[in-house]
Amino acid sequence: MGDLREWIETMDTQGELRTVCGVDWDVELGVIVDQYQRRMNLPALLFDEIKGHQKGFRVLANTLTSNKRIALTLGLPPEASQMELVHAWRQYAKGYPTLPPRMVQDGPVNENIQTGNDVDLLAFPAPKWHQHDGNRYIGTGCLVIQKDPDTDWVNIGVYRVAVHDKKTAGLYISPGKHGRLIMEKYWARGEGCPIAVSSGHDPSLFFVAGLEIPHGVSEFEVAGGLKGEPIEVIESQITGLPIPATAEIVIEGKVPPGELRDEGPFGEWLGYYAGGMRPAPIIKIEAIRHRNDPIILGNLPSLPPNDDTYYRGILRSATIWEQLKQAGIPGIKGVWAHEAGGSRMLLILSIQQLYGGHSKQVGLAACQCHAGAYANRMTIVVDDDIDPTDTNRVLWAMCSRMDPAVDLEVLKRCWSTALDPMSYPREKPVFNNRVVIDACRPWERIDDFPEVVEASPDVKRAVIERWKDALPEITD
Ligand SMILES: Cc1cc2nc3c(=O)[nH]c(=O)nc-3n(C[C@H](O)[C@H](O)[C@H](O)COP(=O)(O)O)c2cc1C
Repeated sequence: MGDLREWIETMDTQGELRTVCGVDWDVELGVIVDQYQRRMNLPALLFDEIKGHQKGFRVLANTLTSNKRIALTLGLPPEASQMELVHAWRQYAKGYPTLPPRMVQDGPVNENIQTGNDVDLLAFPAPKWHQHDGNRYIGTGCLVIQKDPDTDWVNIGVYRVAVHDKKTAGLYISPGKHGRLIMEKYWARGEGCPIAVSSGHDPSLFFVAGLEIPHGVSEFEVAGGLKGEPIEVIESQITGLPIPATAEIVIEGKVPPGELRDEGPFGEWLGYYAGGMRPAPIIKIEAIRHRNDPIILGNLPSLPPNDDTYYRGILRSATIWEQLKQAGIPGIKGVWAHEAGGSRMLLILSIQQLYGGHSKQVGLAACQCHAGAYANRMTIVVDDDIDPTDTNRVLWAMCSRMDPAVDLEVLKRCWSTALDPMSYPREKPVFNNRVVIDACRPWERIDDFPEVVEASPDVKRAVIERWKDALPEITD
């Protein structure tokens, strides 16, 4: 898939897309998406004829909330299960193969170019996603593109972009993120930071831009490696930045030093308006390019599960698995960063217990390895007869194999974020407390623990085979 339009076409052919006409960008669109994203495997939503906006100026949302769409975006078989997707990403993340972008002279993004007095950010149907948001957002599933002034390294991050007025956007980048570090370098020289924001593009670019790719490595190259073909980019004469040639909308300008404007509150991925409203940098827009009938790629953070947590659960599970393996821990059979915890707060690992203390080691390591440590609250370790993606089975293991007197470990003052409503100290929240739950059969009873009431796989398979025509619902 080369661009967002091909992605949409593929999903439509696969029965994975629904078009909706006539909604209001002011909360209504967001409420619809929110209702859809609470359940896995509902269609992606393409909104057209949005109230007060030109027909054809569209918003695509609820994109990565089906296994099939995630698999197709990653170029994997559409029927892949969650755990198969975790395995596939583990293989890929071992090396993150890269392929440099290909520079081209022109592309569909140049079909319309607004400059000077023609610049009008309000022409696009940016949603006000949640009822109590302080702004409309043109950038949620966006790419924020910047260049390091010392090395020319091009970084892309997904950082939210608010609409302030026709020529001004707001930008929220957390401290320490690469985009912030680059911006601060320009500011230290008293210069504005050149910036380009793509608001619609091939979802595999979005996939990679939201990942913590190492400092100095360009997400354009990683996305090329993921797709197996270079991303085509145009060098902008306005900012000198490379922009995707097939992007839907690209905003370009500078982020001046010392000029802030109130931004937020914004409903966040842990399900709270935890960040509040605060002064944030602005983008002074010099140009907007867009394709005919452009499409905003939206990604609605909200009470989990949401669009952000399904696919990230797969990526995070794979990364944690790899990091535990690299730490020399054996016997891991499955990892699931559960969507209900925003793919961070709730980790579940299944293991083949190999020695006394093994299960506790896995839990403690998982909640402290780099991929698992940030904003975790609960890590559960189960035996390998439990599928970690099967929530009922996990809860059953906790109910039936866990002894609260010895199987809970509380860790204090761990790495968290202000977006975690239980983080502290309240005036500058950075820590949280968390628990590791060992829900495996006790090691000393592993040989004589009561047998599980379930037919053996052979018996089950034979019965299903014999009855599957008369009883089509009977599945394993
Ligand atoms: C949908 C989505 C929205 C995000 N919004 C923000 C944001 O507003 N600000 C921010 O600092 N990080 C945000 N992130 C996280 C960053 O994109 C992520 O940490 C990424 O690795 C940043 O790129 P960097 O590593 O090059 O800094 C978001 C991620 C996703 C997937």
